[in-house]
Formats: sequence, structure tokens, C-alpha cells
Amino acid sequence: KTVLILNGPNLNLLGQREPATYGHQTLDDVRQLCEAACQQHQLRADFRQSNHEGVLLDWIHEAGAAQAAGQLAGVILNAGAYTHTSIALADAIKGVGLRVIELHISNVHARESFRHHSYLSAVAAGVMFGFGTHGYALAIAAMAQLSHSGGH
Ligand code: DQA
Repeated sequence: KTVLILNGPNLNLLGQREPATYGHQTLDDVRQLCEAACQQHQLRADFRQSNHEGVLLDWIHEAGAAQAAGQLAGVILNAGAYTHTSIALADAIKGVGLRVIELHISNVHARESFRHHSYLSAVAAGVMFGFGTHGYALAIAAMAQLSHSGGH
């Protein structure tokens, strides 16, 4: 099965963007890390990034269909700042019944209060944050577990 790893706005800037918060790895490094982690769990990584909320919505709808067809284990979603603003992303996840693990590189609860609320957590199977880019590998392990025990 496939794990879709979706990255939202500004994550294309990883490596150069606020390295004290997000580290020095680039998005391409994260893609490679995800591919290796998926391989360990006999899963296939489909790794994407968009700065556009509507594109992320389209990908979530597409993922819902792929999950229903038994092709997709679920989505690991780092929605960036849309996490804190987007009712539309939450509605889409709920609407298609998608298995999502919400992910953040940083510990959002140790940062500004506007990062403490997430519209996505209520519709996520679980949330991974604060472990840097290694969190992607941890989330893939969690997704493999969910996928095995969840029947899909
Ligand atoms: C982030 C945390 C968000 O608050 C922020 O807007 C991001 C990245 C993270 O990975 O830590 O863009 O999702």
C-alpha cells in the first residue's frame, strides 16, 4: 500500500527557513527519509508539497478514493499554517473518511499561542509533533501499525 505524505505551505523552504525551529534538512532530505521509512514497512511513499490550500483539498479527496479502493494506508499531513486556519481541510478529511496522522516538525505547543489550536486534530487518527523531521519516520511507523490493525 501507499502512504501519501502531504506537505503544505512554506515547507518547500525547509533547510533555509528558521533552521533553529525546523532544522537543516531540506524537503528533499525529508522525502528520502520517508521513502526509506516506508520501505522498512513494506509501504510505498507518495511525497508531495503545495503552497495552495485548494491543491491540498484535491489531494485529500483523491486520497479518500484511493483509501476506499484499498490502495492507500492513509495520509501523513503537515499542513503548515493551514493547520491553524483551515476548516476546509478538516471538512475534507471528515468528508471522505480519510485516515490522517497530523504532523508538525516543531513542538507547536511550546510556541506562539496561535499555534496551539489545530482544526485538524479532531479529525486525525493521531498527532505527531516536536520530534523534528524524524517525526515523519515515526508517523510512518504509526501509520503501518494503524493500517495493519485497522483492516484497510
Ligand atoms: C509546522 C508548524 C506550523 O505552526 C507552521 O505554520 C508550519 C510548520 C511544523 O511542521 O512545525 O508551517 O507545521
